[in-house]
Amino acid sequence: MKKHLLPVVAVLTILISCAKKQGTTITIDVAAAKDTISKNIYGHFSEHLGRCVYGGLYIGDTITSIPNRNGIRLDVLAALKKMKVPVLRWPGGCFADTYHWKDGVGPKDKRPSMLNVWWGNTKEDNSFGTNEFLNLCEELGAEPYLSGNVGSGTPGELSDWVKYTTHPNASGPMTDLRMANGRTAPWQVRFWGLGNEAWGCGGNMKVEHYANIYRQYATFMTDWNNSDKLYRIASGASDDDYHWTEVLMKELPASMFDALGLHHYSVIDWNKKGPATAFSEEQYFTTMQRALLMEELVTKHSAIMDKYDPEKKKALAVDEWGGWYDVEPGTNPAFLFQQNTMRDAMIAGSNLNIFNNHADRVKMANLAQIVNVLQAVILTEGDKMLLTPTYHVMEMYNVHHDALLLPIRITSADYTLGKESLKAVNASASRDKNGITHISLVNIDPNKEQTLSIDISGASYKTISGRILKSARMQDYNSFDNPEKIKPAAYDGAKIAGNKLTLTLPPASVVVLALAN
Ligand code: AHR
Repeated sequence: MKKHLLPVVAVLTILISCAKKQGTTITIDVAAAKDTISKNIYGHFSEHLGRCVYGGLYIGDTITSIPNRNGIRLDVLAALKKMKVPVLRWPGGCFADTYHWKDGVGPKDKRPSMLNVWWGNTKEDNSFGTNEFLNLCEELGAEPYLSGNVGSGTPGELSDWVKYTTHPNASGPMTDLRMANGRTAPWQVRFWGLGNEAWGCGGNMKVEHYANIYRQYATFMTDWNNSDKLYRIASGASDDDYHWTEVLMKELPASMFDALGLHHYSVIDWNKKGPATAFSEEQYFTTMQRALLMEELVTKHSAIMDKYDPEKKKALAVDEWGGWYDVEPGTNPAFLFQQNTMRDAMIAGSNLNIFNNHADRVKMANLAQIVNVLQAVILTEGDKMLLTPTYHVMEMYNVHHDALLLPIRITSADYTLGKESLKAVNASASRDKNGITHISLVNIDPNKEQTLSIDISGASYKTISGRILKSARMQDYNSFDNPEKIKPAAYDGAKIAGNKLTLTLPPASVVVLALAN
């Protein structure tokens, strides 16, 4: 080699090794696969809040200008079916602990009204009640998750709700009432929440007190042996309240519960949430810090559960999660209506990867909320409807429903802003019943593409295809004027050789790959 070329070679070597260090490597260990990703991780949440139910899912019996069946919007129904909703939580949230289900059954003109005190003191006319909700779930192919009123209800009221919805015909006054209200056969209602945020709007209880109340309510819902096969979910911790989880695991008899909840929102500051669309990179970075904190929360709550339940018979149900910002200017602050940008796609993709990777303990999660509220998958305005970036992530990820989790190890490059860094890339992988392997990947860095090399030990593939969600700017969103600005596109940026993959993820993108033999 000529002498003068030596410095050039040295510089190139340094540059190549830096580039290598900045890359992300992923190893997928097919032989170690053992857990199934419950499709219920892809669950949703609908509360009597703002325009989630009224105007979003349901428009009542009088509006004919919007196509509907029994008041359910057909455009929303079709979109949700395509995305797949495995489980839907209702009627709250905070609203659930003020809700008396008997007010919402029977002839609509006889149903009493109430004030929705948590959400703007609006008049709730109870026209959407138990029958309407459970019929909607049947149409969607979703399992209902009823959130019982423990804060201001009674054990008898909750026990009657179980009988009204699930007991066989002619087994008592509640099933007679069901028949009188036009429904003969029971619905399938497995999931029951016993209160919501008992530490807050559900009664401001201390966990020791709630544990006792829980035992009382759980006792009267079914018999000694739970022959109704109810899946009972206790109101769980807020964020990092590990004491809450510890006490519930210690105090609740194993025969009386199946899961503990957990609520964690990706909020910057409860007193200064920031705008949903015109946010800065600093605000984006903080949102992603909060979103990625989910990994630590799930890990630590699971570790406490492991102490009491090493066989992992009890589940963690993250029954409220998502981004929470200031409401859209000019809208009712109590209605929590916010736009949904590529930032929300980053939250959704990252949190779903976390839930998938913890499939041994996380068996359910419910994004807050399904339509028009918080990190919604659908927004409506009169007869118009749009699908948000979060919808597209949920739809792209539905390949993971009930698939076998393939454990991954990841060494990610950093996304750095100022003096702080986050892991730029997160991922999860699964193999479905047809033998197709899917890998979902998120690059949260809004400025840099990421180069990835993925090694899949114990398998080799011949074909690869993919879909990508991206947009020019992190702040981009789908509007009613431009509803398809952001939508999935085909992705052909991955190369495969046997069991090795190389690819590049554009800035702020979500990619789902499908690999087959
Ligand atoms: O999702 C909105 C509200 O957030 C719910 O009603 C409550 O449970 C939580 O605080």
